[in-house]
Amino acid sequence: MPQNKATGQWTPYNGACPYPSRTEMNQRVIPLADERLLRQLPTIPRELAAPTGQLLDSRGRAVRDLRISVTDRCNFRCVYCMPKAVFDKDYAFLPRESLLSFEEITRLARLFAAHGVSKIRLTGGEPLLRRNLEQLIAQLAAIPGIEVTLTTNGVLLPKKAAALKAAGLQRVTVSLDSLDDAVFRAMNDMDVPVADVLKGIDAATAAGLGPIKINMVVKRGLNDHEILPLARHFRGSGHILRFIEFMDVGSSNGWRMDDVVPSAEVVRRIHAEFPLEPIDPNYTGEVAERWRYKDGGGEIGVISSVTQAFCSTCTRARLSTEGRLYTCLFAQSGHDLRTLLRNGRSDAEVSAAIGHIWQGRGDRYSEIRSAETAALRKIEMSYIGG
Ligand code: GTP
Ligand code: 5AD
Ligand code: SF4
Ligand code: SF4
Repeated sequence: MPQNKATGQWTPYNGACPYPSRTEMNQRVIPLADERLLRQLPTIPRELAAPTGQLLDSRGRAVRDLRISVTDRCNFRCVYCMPKAVFDKDYAFLPRESLLSFEEITRLARLFAAHGVSKIRLTGGEPLLRRNLEQLIAQLAAIPGIEVTLTTNGVLLPKKAAALKAAGLQRVTVSLDSLDDAVFRAMNDMDVPVADVLKGIDAATAAGLGPIKINMVVKRGLNDHEILPLARHFRGSGHILRFIEFMDVGSSNGWRMDDVVPSAEVVRRIHAEFPLEPIDPNYTGEVAERWRYKDGGGEIGVISSVTQAFCSTCTRARLSTEGRLYTCLFAQSGHDLRTLLRNGRSDAEVSAAIGHIWQGRGDRYSEIRSAETAALRKIEMSYIGG
C-alpha cells in the first residue's frame, strides 16, 4: 500500500493493475514500470467547498504552476533522463487509452485555474510528439488568466512553431546540453545533431515564441566543458540560457553527487570571462536564479535544485500523462485523478479532491536530499513531466 507522505496515511491501491506485466511481455524484470502503479485514489471530502483561488498547502505554498506531461515518449534518449539501456524497444510505454484526452486535460486545467493556477507548462517526454497538440493548446489558452508554455528538445519546432503560436502558446523552453556535435549526439544518444536544435530555436524565434529559454543540464566530466561555449553562443541573442544541476530524478540515471557541478561554480566560471551581477527574480518562487552580463550582453539563469533547494517557495503541481497528480518532482506515488474523471465525478467533487490533496501537501524533497533519499525508487521524469 502506498503512503501519503503528507498525511502519513496508507491508502489501498485502487483496482487492478492496468499494465501488462513486464515479465509476461519479455521475461525481463525491470522495476521501473512498477513505480507508475503506485497510485492513490483521491479522497472526496464530504463538504464540497468551492475553490477560492487561494489554495495553500500545509507549508503555506499556493498552487500556481501546473506542469502537464502529454506523453511519456521521446525521440531522444538523453543519458541523464531516458537511458537507452532502460528505455529500449521492450520498454512498456503507456498505451493510448491510458492517456488523458485533451478534454480531460482541459477540464482538470480549468479546475486547477479556479484554485489559483496561472501558468501551464506542457512537458513530456517530448510534448511535440503528441498528435494535434495545437488543439490542446487552443483549449488551454482559452481558460481565462492562464499562460501556456512548453518545454521541448526543439527538433520538431521548425515544423510546428507557427501553428503552436497561432493556437495561443506564449513561450517555449528548449533543452540543449552542448554545442559540440560529438558531445551532443552522445548525450541525446539518438545521433541528433546540434544544428537540428538550433534550427528549432530559430523557428521559435521567428514565430514569436520568445523570450526563449535554453536549458542545459550540466553533468561533470560529460558536458561541463561546454558551459563557456554555450554562454558565448547565446550572449547577446536575446535568449536566456539556464544551467541546471544534474538531479537524482527517477531511478535509472545513475545519479551521484560527484556528477553535480554546483551553480556557484558555473557562475564563477562564466564570471571569470564575462563579469556577471545578480538580478531580482521575475516572481516569487522562480526556479532559476537570474544573473546578467555587466556589459549588457543579456541574462543567464542557474537552477540549483541540489545545492540550493527552493522547496520553500515551490508552487508546482504535476499532472502525469495518465492523469496522476504529483505534488513533487521526486514523488514516489501520485493521486489518480483520471479514475475520478472516468467514474463520472462532478466538477465540484474533483475540485474538492484536488483541494484536499494540495492542502495535505508537505513535500520538500530537495531540502532533505541525502544519499539514502537519492537511492529511493522515484518516478521517472519522462513520465511525470520535467
Ligand atoms: P519559467 O520560469 O516559466 O520559464 O519556467 P520554469 O523555469 O519553471 O520551467 P522549466 O521547465 O524551464 O524548468 C527548468 C528546469 O528546472 C526543469 O526542467 C527541471 O529540471 C527544474 N525544475 C523545475 N521545476 C522544478 C521543481 O519543482 N523542483 C525541482 N527540483 N526542479 C525543478
Ligand atoms: N537533472 C536535471 N534536469 C533534468 N532534465 C531531465 N532530466 C534531468 C535531470 N536528471 C531536464 C531536461 C529538460 C527538462 C525537461 O528537464 O534537460 O530541460
Ligand atoms: Fe527527452 Fe527531454 Fe528526457 Fe531528453 S531530457 S530524453 S529530450 S524528455
Ligand atoms: Fe518542489 Fe519537490 Fe522540487 Fe522541492 S523537490 S522544489 S517540493 S518539486
